[in-house]
Amino acid sequence: MCGIVGAVAERNISAILLEGLKRLEYRGYDSAGIAVLDAAGQLQRLRRSGKVAELESAQRTAELTGRLGIAHTRWATHGAPCERNAHPHFSGDDLAVVHNGIIENHEALRAQLKALGYSFASDTDTEVIVHLLKHKLGEFGDLTVALKSAVKELHGAYGLAVISAKQPDRLLAARSGSPLVIGLGLGENFLASDQLALRQVTDRFMYLEEGDIAEIRRDSVQIWDVDGQPVQRESVQYHEGAEAADKGEYRHFMLKEIHEQPKVVQRTLEGRLGDSQVLVQAFGPQAAELFAKVRNVQIVACGTSYHAGMVARYWLEELAGIPCQVEVASEFRYRKVVVQPDTLFVTISQSGETADTLAALRNAKQLGYLASLAICNVGISSLVRESDLCLLTQAGPEIGVASTKAFTTQLVGLMLLTLALGQVRGTLAAATEADLVAELRRLPTRLGEALAMDATVEKIAEHFAEKHHTLFLGRGAQYPVAMEGALKLKEISYIHAEAYPAGELKHGPLALVDADMPVVTVAPNNELLEKLKSNLQEVRARGGELIVFADGAAEMENGEGTYVVNMPHIHDALAPILYTLPLQLLSYYVAVLRGTDVDQPRNLAKSVTVE
Ligand code: F6R
Repeated sequence: MCGIVGAVAERNISAILLEGLKRLEYRGYDSAGIAVLDAAGQLQRLRRSGKVAELESAQRTAELTGRLGIAHTRWATHGAPCERNAHPHFSGDDLAVVHNGIIENHEALRAQLKALGYSFASDTDTEVIVHLLKHKLGEFGDLTVALKSAVKELHGAYGLAVISAKQPDRLLAARSGSPLVIGLGLGENFLASDQLALRQVTDRFMYLEEGDIAEIRRDSVQIWDVDGQPVQRESVQYHEGAEAADKGEYRHFMLKEIHEQPKVVQRTLEGRLGDSQVLVQAFGPQAAELFAKVRNVQIVACGTSYHAGMVARYWLEELAGIPCQVEVASEFRYRKVVVQPDTLFVTISQSGETADTLAALRNAKQLGYLASLAICNVGISSLVRESDLCLLTQAGPEIGVASTKAFTTQLVGLMLLTLALGQVRGTLAAATEADLVAELRRLPTRLGEALAMDATVEKIAEHFAEKHHTLFLGRGAQYPVAMEGALKLKEISYIHAEAYPAGELKHGPLALVDADMPVVTVAPNNELLEKLKSNLQEVRARGGELIVFADGAAEMENGEGTYVVNMPHIHDALAPILYTLPLQLLSYYVAVLRGTDVDQPRNLAKSVTVE
């Protein structure tokens, strides 16, 4: 999704802006641009479609320098991804705006502004903002006052950064539905849509809240809230090392993040396990009281996070005896929902800014749920702020667009939730909980063992390099794991992949199976194993090539057209977490063989902050 960086300083800020954009590249974008106020007091702009590297090389040739500037990476929503539509957008030659989000009433505003004589150079919704602001500037004379008035006419979502050649002492920001953070320096200040963009220059941040407008000068920051009242926002020291945004020894962020899983799973467990019980207060001080009342769970999420919710449904019903429904947020938010009494509303999200998930939470608040709980990786996100309870996953920044460590840490969070609900409601035997707590402690080691199979999986990936279609099969809680495996493969290798519960094969998809359709299966040693083995025979009998990730005790053997990878043994309940890892590695190595852009797959964005 789009990214914003801005700076006001005593030094040249072009390199800072470009470095900030590079750090936001992981979010996905299709064009980039920068505007700075030069020494002669003129606004200079450069825009390029494609990668930030192209903008950077254009910047080197143009020698764009200045002490006040804004920059942007755009992910096209209104208008094609081309230079003309890239931000910053100008009104005249003295006012520049970059924008994240969508202005819903852009057509009406465009018509009004055209009638006032403004002409439009792009197809974007953003351009209405800059002309509207110019118009207000004519009326009020002061940029900050003009911005306060202009935003009142905008419907939709926006994170805005604004600079003007006429008032070169300030960088302005406005937030509504799209996050913005101010980076605090010494005699210089910065702005970005994600603090990651600014960790090269500061570790002190101030997060804008919904409706805030900020006037950022070199040595001061003034903020007004949604009612126009001056407010102080807390400044926060960030501790995570800036190196989190580096690939280190790995070729791609995705591979680095896959290999970080033992460590981040360990971190997600830290402080949340007692000797033989989950510490319920890990979910917040009111959790024990609220959990005791829970009779149903409704989970809502998108994409990979939705798959985590699908796994949790098996856990919550089987281990904690709680009825659970799971739905994708984009459907839930527009559906008339019948709410069962005492239902806990659970959202799952890596970013905590996914537009559909946030909207679903906001709707749910009107519907009479018992309480809301966010399982999220970003503590300062809107989702966490707006939920009653939260459990933060400790995956650290996830840069690869395809989610990996966020998923497994979400699963850990959801297993903790299952055990906590079962414990508080008395539906889970103490011995079972103690057993699972002990298994959770061993999980990071098991994950490390699974990752040691990296080279084996890399070899297997060769079977896929020339293929166009793949099936993923699983039964029980491994069915959502198969869904996640299929999503990963299609996202980064662009191979069409579908997941089915293995028992459904003969009800249709078996017709697709032939020698050109590899079938990937996850087969822990559980009570469904024998049934799964029969399903696999159905595939082999049609000449389909099988790749099976199986528990050693499952006694499955390599044979003609069958490749078995023996997995470390694990408690069946935790198998979905472990069996995810080889599927992530498989997608990764297939994508590398096919030469795709692994960390930034085409058409996708990391944080989907628009509908
Ligand atoms: C897939 C992926 C997406 C996200 C989805 C939700 O690899 O990353 O499917 O899972 O866009 O994002 P969050 O979890 O940030 O709400």
